Amino acid sequence: MKKKEAFEKILNGKKAQEARKKLIESTPLSAEAGRAGSRLAQEVVQTVSLPHPIYIESADGGNMTDVDGNTYIDTTMGFGPLVLGHRPPEVVAALEDQISKGWLHGIPSPLQPVLGDLLVEASPCSDQVVICNTGTEATSYAMRAARAYTGKQKIGTFDGCYHGAHDYALIFADPTGPRSAPEPMSVGDGIPDVVRDDTMLKLPYRDDAAFELIRKHKDELAAVFIEASQNSNPRLDAGDFLQELRDVCTECDVILGFDEVVTGFRVAYGGAQEYFGITPDIATYGKALGGGTPIGAVGGRDDIMNGFSGKDGAKYFFSGGTFSGNPLSMAAGIAQVTAMRDRKDTLYPYLMEQGNRMASEINSFCEENGFPAKILNAGSKFHLRFTSKPIEGSFDLTDEFRWAEREFYIHLLGHGVIVPGVHLAYLCEAHSPEDVSAIIEGMKQSFWDVREDGLI
Ligand SMILES: Cc1ncc(COP(=O)(O)O)c(C=O)c1O
Repeated sequence: MKKKEAFEKILNGKKAQEARKKLIESTPLSAEAGRAGSRLAQEVVQTVSLPHPIYIESADGGNMTDVDGNTYIDTTMGFGPLVLGHRPPEVVAALEDQISKGWLHGIPSPLQPVLGDLLVEASPCSDQVVICNTGTEATSYAMRAARAYTGKQKIGTFDGCYHGAHDYALIFADPTGPRSAPEPMSVGDGIPDVVRDDTMLKLPYRDDAAFELIRKHKDELAAVFIEASQNSNPRLDAGDFLQELRDVCTECDVILGFDEVVTGFRVAYGGAQEYFGITPDIATYGKALGGGTPIGAVGGRDDIMNGFSGKDGAKYFFSGGTFSGNPLSMAAGIAQVTAMRDRKDTLYPYLMEQGNRMASEINSFCEENGFPAKILNAGSKFHLRFTSKPIEGSFDLTDEFRWAEREFYIHLLGHGVIVPGVHLAYLCEAHSPEDVSAIIEGMKQSFWDVREDGLI
């Protein structure tokens, strides 16, 4: 649908007008808070902002309450870390206790080795770990570790991947280029051309052509990093591809890195490695590891990880940061990881069951009623895609229904469900089966709303 036609439908749409009126009337304090933020060069990344801005006052369990007192079911879950929900009692107690003792000492606290041990026990590939502050830091350190260890310069990443906000991670696959030999493209300005042209190799996700590219570039390729289940294309059916990738990397002496920033402690307690039964050489973590506080981590084999300290003659590389291993993140992380570990036999089956139920109910509903949309999910991580075509990878993602999609999320917010603007969403332990049913009902109603206005 053309922009002009869509705008007319939205302008004249009964449902579109009703939804906007309701949201505007119910969120005056959010509107004020938004104005107060006008001196920020950027408040949130454009891709994650909501279709109607709201400002959050508090959160609990599976819900968030905005500054106007409206409570919503939240599927943002802090962009993924909150596997147990907002304010789980274990994490609240640990944070309160730590605040009474101080939250930034610089000098090591005894908590960091405890979280390190928990991560080593959970992460099949990790003999040792290093803790930092974000997933972005973790992936940049892991790439540096691979370059230092191998003495090779290039890093392979896949189309449709996300590995954070540093320069190397922001080399994406050009969607207008060939699918089986993706061309590198910098996201936004400011990234030196040399990063795009000389340091990265783009590989096709779930496409055997990736293996030939790795073989061809093996002498310059330090490592290949992959999200075993991509954020842009969440699915758990890539096991065979991952196994072959493991074998080809071993054959070519290329380090295999799993980016477990999202999948770690989310698709299984031991992350994608446990779920698929495949062990990489190095892995990156973040999100759930910190119990909702800032964190990142790298874990891997002894010989690779020795480079962080230079021990046993390993080639040394630098890492470090003011807030790395800070006691507040360590306390929250230990509390959440321990709770996830202790409840893993019920927690992960529950998350998987609820995520699969939501996807199958919405997908059947869309099929039966001719809505061009589909939920892709990896257990409790899900992404509703508006498309009339099957989605194999990032090259199949189009914005042909973008107006319908935008309206859908305005309606869904009006029906009391927050899905973050990036549309990658999560269920948590605190979402009851009734909450999940309410999300499903909100989505169904939003599809009908969009259809009533003629947008889909
Ligand atoms: C797979 C993956 N890797 C890395 C990152 C970067 O993590 P952070 O936002 O903590 O820097 C993200 C963030 O969403 C991610 O999803």
